[in-house]
Amino acid sequence: MADTDGVQETHDYHLDTPMKNEPFHLKGCNALDWGMKNRLGNIFDARSGRTVMLAVDHGYFMGPTTGLERIDINIVPLLEHADTLMCTRGILRSSIPPTFNQGVVLRASGGPSILKELSNEEIAVSMEDGIRLNVAAMAVQVFIGGEFETRSVHNMTRLVDAGNRYGIPVLGVTAVGKELVRDAKYMRLATRICAELGATYVKTYYVAEGFESVAASCPVPIVIAGGKKLPEPEALTMAYRAVQEGASGVDMGRNIFQSEAPTAMIRAVRAVVHDGLRPAEAMDLFNTLKNQK
Ligand code: R5P
Repeated sequence: MADTDGVQETHDYHLDTPMKNEPFHLKGCNALDWGMKNRLGNIFDARSGRTVMLAVDHGYFMGPTTGLERIDINIVPLLEHADTLMCTRGILRSSIPPTFNQGVVLRASGGPSILKELSNEEIAVSMEDGIRLNVAAMAVQVFIGGEFETRSVHNMTRLVDAGNRYGIPVLGVTAVGKELVRDAKYMRLATRICAELGATYVKTYYVAEGFESVAASCPVPIVIAGGKKLPEPEALTMAYRAVQEGASGVDMGRNIFQSEAPTAMIRAVRAVVHDGLRPAEAMDLFNTLKNQK
């Protein structure tokens, strides 16, 4: 029955309090639609505006990478410490408990293995399957300067069009070929192209000289990949510098799952990214957590 009493003039409309109209917590994202923002909110923590993405998608071109031989044993215990998991649909369906409630960023490009020319990728997952898997974003590799540069850019723009149709963010992943110099000039070029062509956010590598200019010239959030395994103090220093110099977090894989103490490492990385712990403090935390085993 309709509640006719409920429409009487007895409500408090708080006429002296303007409605809150707060900006979204990520740069360059205010004009996005609600669903897109909601999904980004499942990747980037609203309190810090940053994310710790755990990247375990390496198998899509590298096979059973060291540390990823058994996702169920090595990675699932780390999930509670990650804001987001970046993986392939094969690993998601086969090995990740569907009770995992944080964001999933789905690897959406692929094709060549490490035995072939890597820039020759295609879109490897449909947007429809991403929606079916309830992902927070789709990730696509972009090879600026690579042999198949245009194809990889086109992969991203097609995915962006599909993502915009359904409110799914697209992460543009800047991939640097062996022959290219990893410096700020290259990273500015690659990240800016991804953003200009519609990537919702961009993944790149940290560069010691000039990373601030890479972050500043990219109008959407940037996260950094970890790259090859480094000693823990160096990896924590890299994460610290990256966020201090404008990154909105990390998408880190090998420096976490190949660490001698992966749980301690991801927790130390979190403390750097979300709480601004300095590298030395984060190393103390890492050692304390490692010795608690
Ligand atoms: C590599 O191609 C994948 O996209 C990884 O997700 C990315 O490189 C981050 O992992 P790592 O920190 O191991 O570099």
